[in-house]
Amino acid sequence: MKINDFKLERYFGKHEFTAKYLLSSSDCDGYELSYVLDHASKEEIQLWENLTLGYTESEGSPMLREAILQYYKVDSIENIVIASPGELNFASMNVILDSKDHVITVSPCYQSLSEVVKSIGCTVSYWTPNSEDWEFNSKDLEQLIQKNTKLIVLNFPHNPTGAYLNYKQFDAVVAIARKHDIYIFSDEMYHKLVIGNINELPPIADVYEKGISLWGTSKTFGLAGLRTGWLVSKDKAFLKKVIAFKDYLSICSSAPSEVLSLIALNNLDAFLVPNLEKIKRNLSFFERFASNQQLLSFVPPKAGSTAFVKLHIESSSLEFSDKLVSETGIMSVPSEMFGYQGKYIRIGFGRDNFPKILDEFNQYLNTY
Ligand SMILES: Cc1ncc(COP(=O)(O)O)c(C=O)c1O
Repeated sequence: MKINDFKLERYFGKHEFTAKYLLSSSDCDGYELSYVLDHASKEEIQLWENLTLGYTESEGSPMLREAILQYYKVDSIENIVIASPGELNFASMNVILDSKDHVITVSPCYQSLSEVVKSIGCTVSYWTPNSEDWEFNSKDLEQLIQKNTKLIVLNFPHNPTGAYLNYKQFDAVVAIARKHDIYIFSDEMYHKLVIGNINELPPIADVYEKGISLWGTSKTFGLAGLRTGWLVSKDKAFLKKVIAFKDYLSICSSAPSEVLSLIALNNLDAFLVPNLEKIKRNLSFFERFASNQQLLSFVPPKAGSTAFVKLHIESSSLEFSDKLVSETGIMSVPSEMFGYQGKYIRIGFGRDNFPKILDEFNQYLNTY
């Protein structure tokens, strides 16, 4: 199997740990270990202190899967498998698909959502939003269905645009998949990061028998360093195949991460609420800033932690981002990293130092 480089991750690899400021991160600041442990129950502290560092169970710790179960309407922990988010995406696609299949995926997208499918040899069609408002229309999706369409890949809240489906569109997507007997892999990594006064969508696994939900601790919880993700599905046969596939990858999760994830899952609000407040505060700063800036315009995100901001410039967005980081130390992610035509950069709202970065960015644009 051959797979193309993951452009976004390679761009982060180049700048993330050397740039002075990160303007485009999709995760919120990572919480400190002491913050996590401060929220642990007596029993969880005992688990942490008495932890032995051996192998863990392939499907994930039963206690952690019990804690995850409270957020889903599925029968039991047998409907849940734990691994890192990217690994679960990679394993799911390889388990479901082979080269004769057709796949529809949202676009622009986090590259692994289309690249893994391509590496298997599938043909891919892209479900794209209207760039005026980033609305995805289910009628456009239905037109992309082919006889051999086996999988639809969703990602709402959407990275990078901050788009979200309303209930009507979401129900229409499920109805289309059901009518054509198609799997839905729903990347819900930004689940519960709902910014506006809108209804939160249910996980796809709750409402669709061929639905697969992916969530994890990286974005909603501000705990990306744990590398914990989970799949939830009513299709237990599919999950068994994922567990077997994982034997060629990580085999099982890190024992310390499982205990820390358990504490976080049992204390969602302690992690989610400060993150959402930060995102909303930074977004309001950005709205004010953007209203006075001729060089950019944007559609405010409905959910998630990012926006895709249009640049009104002569150069390409990659040239813009390269120059920005070399002259100011501000790292931004250009639209080339999402394979998207047009001049955009992603802005991430999950960092405490956002107002300071925005000040520096403003000064730079004023002399651009
Ligand atoms: C839509 C989406 N899916 C999956 C991931 C992968 O999550 P992680 O970095 O925790 O593996 C990301 C990370 O940016 C993402 O944006």
